[in-house]
Amino acid sequence: MKSLVILGRQPKLGLAELESLYKPEHIVALGEDAAVSDLTVADIAFSRLGGSVKLCEIHETIETTDWKRIEKALIKVAPGLFTEANEGKLHLGLSVYGQKMSPLDIHATALRLKKIVRAKTNQTVRVVPNTATLLSSAQIIHNKLLGSQGAEIVVYITETQTIIAKTVAEQDIDAYTKRDQARPKRDARVGMLPPKLAQIIINLATSDTDPKHGSIVLDPFCGTGVVLQEASLMGFDIAGSDLEPRMVEYTDANLQWLATINLNIAVHSDDGTYYQLKQADATTDELPKANIIACEGYLGQPFSAFPAEDKLREVMQTCNGVMKGFLKNIHGQIEPETRLCIGLPAWVRPNGTIEHLKLLDSLEELGYNRVSFVHVRTQELLYYRPGQVVARELLVITRK
Ligand SMILES: C[S@@+](CC[C@H](N)C(=O)[O-])C[C@H]1O[C@@H](n2cnc3c(N)ncnc32)[C@H](O)[C@@H]1O
Repeated sequence: MKSLVILGRQPKLGLAELESLYKPEHIVALGEDAAVSDLTVADIAFSRLGGSVKLCEIHETIETTDWKRIEKALIKVAPGLFTEANEGKLHLGLSVYGQKMSPLDIHATALRLKKIVRAKTNQTVRVVPNTATLLSSAQIIHNKLLGSQGAEIVVYITETQTIIAKTVAEQDIDAYTKRDQARPKRDARVGMLPPKLAQIIINLATSDTDPKHGSIVLDPFCGTGVVLQEASLMGFDIAGSDLEPRMVEYTDANLQWLATINLNIAVHSDDGTYYQLKQADATTDELPKANIIACEGYLGQPFSAFPAEDKLREVMQTCNGVMKGFLKNIHGQIEPETRLCIGLPAWVRPNGTIEHLKLLDSLEELGYNRVSFVHVRTQELLYYRPGQVVARELLVITRK
């Protein structure tokens, strides 16, 4: 059965990530906020996706957008969405994507589905009331819609078609918060890289969905270790370095802590897993060996308001110097075809125009090819929140 993926707040990043991991021919963009894949839900490693919020199994695609006909199709499909031979109460929820609808109308349909499911299964059914077109992720999790007794039915209406699907996984916000905020070492000064963005950076740097020993992710600007933490959870061997010894210590402490709550991760070199951390200047020193480079680079000074022009020039020049120096230095230390994804700073002017690092114009001379995506333009690989001055531009390149 095919899959439907609902993308996150910055859908283009989610789309690029899916394309990187699963090849463009297996992904079709759907509207502004979703994608369809001919891969099954079991083929998609949902928990390592930072840019997708929901994974669903498609049960039916119908050539209509008329709600009455959609409801008829739902009535046929709904009983089959519950696992047979369950005992106890069933939980049913309904979310509609692609079209704004009144929650009352959705709820009325859900109540009709409840009757049919009850009649077919002989079990009591509880419907989660819609207060909006979509159920929230808290509603889905707390009402047990993801368990064997539950089903969130997702209806995605395009201009001509309607997809009926069942949610199999929802982005685990609590788990992200826990591994982000409960880390023993944090440092607001180096900025907070959200774990979701770290996952996206790694997924753009590799298409390896089944890492084996020897598949090593290096972060040469490791800071407090968010990228390495996520790479380790995905099953990669990891290596990191930072100019500041304190940051190397922080990364080490955070990874050791993560190993205490997640026993399967790669932080013990004594069990044969590769794990290397060192202090190093990424622009001049020998860096740990690796075949995948994923990092958020040096972002310069944080700004809460757009800076004066001469200040901006100064910061841009410093960042450009560090990141260009790094690309030159690592070129001789990695094999041809090695892929890199680097979060670079980009500055968003109040009128929306973006100031990019100059090095982007000399990638060829530096010995790299920019990776292009089929579903996303390179300029769209930009992570930022409204009102932020410093955005992260995700540069994906391979060494020539
Ligand atoms: C934006 S932070 C990276 C944050 C990191 N992703 C995290 O999760 O904490 C940039 C890091 O680059 C380091 N840095 C700056 N210049 C460097 C250089 N020349 N070589 C290596 N690291 C450098 C800083 O010490 C800082 O930890």
